[in-house]
Amino acid sequence: MTQKTVRMIYDGKEIELPVLEGTLGPKAVDISTLQKEFGLFTYDPGFKNTSSCKSDITYIDGTESILRYYGYPIEQLASQSTYLETCYLLLNGELPNEAQCQDFHDEITHHTMLNEQLIKFYTGFRRDAHPMSIVVGVFGALSSFYSSGEIDYHNAEEREKATMRMIAKMPTIAALAYKYSKGQPFMHPINSLDYTSNFLQMCFAVPAEPYHHDPILSKALDMIFILQADHEQNASTSTVRLASSSQANPYACVAAGVVSLWGPAHGGANEAALNMLKEIGSVENIPKFIARAKDKSDPFRLMGFGHRVYKTYDPRAKIMQDTCNIVLDHLNMDDPLFDIARELEHVALNDEYFIERNLYPNVDFYSGITLRALGFPSSMFTVLFALSRTVGWVSQWKEMITDKEQSIGRPRQLYTGPDKRDYVPMKQR
Ligand code: CMC
Repeated sequence: MTQKTVRMIYDGKEIELPVLEGTLGPKAVDISTLQKEFGLFTYDPGFKNTSSCKSDITYIDGTESILRYYGYPIEQLASQSTYLETCYLLLNGELPNEAQCQDFHDEITHHTMLNEQLIKFYTGFRRDAHPMSIVVGVFGALSSFYSSGEIDYHNAEEREKATMRMIAKMPTIAALAYKYSKGQPFMHPINSLDYTSNFLQMCFAVPAEPYHHDPILSKALDMIFILQADHEQNASTSTVRLASSSQANPYACVAAGVVSLWGPAHGGANEAALNMLKEIGSVENIPKFIARAKDKSDPFRLMGFGHRVYKTYDPRAKIMQDTCNIVLDHLNMDDPLFDIARELEHVALNDEYFIERNLYPNVDFYSGITLRALGFPSSMFTVLFALSRTVGWVSQWKEMITDKEQSIGRPRQLYTGPDKRDYVPMKQR
């Protein structure tokens, strides 16, 4: 098949730019010769039209509501897989057999403890610090325990160890951040529990009494972790890739990913969505908030609504809503915020403003109600997102580091500042 090209004429000169084709999805024009041939850069704020890499990991079709990890539909993984099995898939490209799954589980389990020195970091934070700020700090501090000066991350075996450590230690770091905010004693990991039950245990057990773990709630949280495990080149993943492109320490790079995820336009939307539902307070107030979301002079947006890639229903939102139903039913809870969320969705999906702009609920719209039912305060929601996304960041880091086409990330700019001017001494200004 002949390679398709895009012909470009500028200033009387003509060049052909190759069109690259992936397995699925839109093709991409390779503009790598543009600057050399024409002295031109592209201008694409927010990277709305730019692919920064080739990746085998995650496929999204935003118009068909498709999300797949290495080809496996998110619906199948959420209903049939476990979070750790999905982690293995994201890291290795294939589902594990029984022995591989067991080895992987054992390996992760044996890296869940934190160095005692690291635990001392917690007491330096204010008691009322946002748990995300604690996670950023403590996870970043892992770089001092596994420093790039001593460890060669170009070595595949070292990368493998770092991968295991990051996925294993994130739940412990997250749970301790929660315990610190509660003023409760830190709970150690328990190796006989599965990954997600162990995390719940570290959050909600107390030394004074036995902890009863609930497999239905563990399964629900595990499913949420699967939904959030990776999402191709979003802001936090791109942050991890960009930070790592300078060959910086991977633990510090993942901490940078946590920072990026924190913002309300990204992973912070789950906390903001729940706070918004609380502020709406009752279904009668919905029209007022819909009007605010449509008012361009008001910065208010419907949190948990809209997505850069999905121009139809986010497939994760549907599963998240079903999970919410399962958890509320199991706990025999009737959360009025769930009723507000469902009505808000109904009103928005029938409103011209949202229809025209293809704004649908995203993964964050229903997650907060489920996490609240599980016992988490809203300040922990984005921490849970960071926990589950760690595998995505690490998989993308591993892919990037072995990709020969990748070099240090260095976007250019369209300079709009003043032309050259001479320094004016203070007294003459
Ligand atoms: N409420 C009201 N209007 C909205 C919303 C919203 N949630 N989202 C987008 N719009 C409007 C926006 O004002 C704009 O209108 P106009 O064309 O008249 O100027 C239009 O829709 C397009 O929006 P945009 O901001 O250009 O789209 P984007 O692709 O840059 O932003 C987004 C995507 C997710 C940041 C945005 O939809 C948003 O702020 N949503 C609320 C925050 C949220 O839920 N974020 C979680 C994203 S999913 C989890 C994750 O992957 O992190």
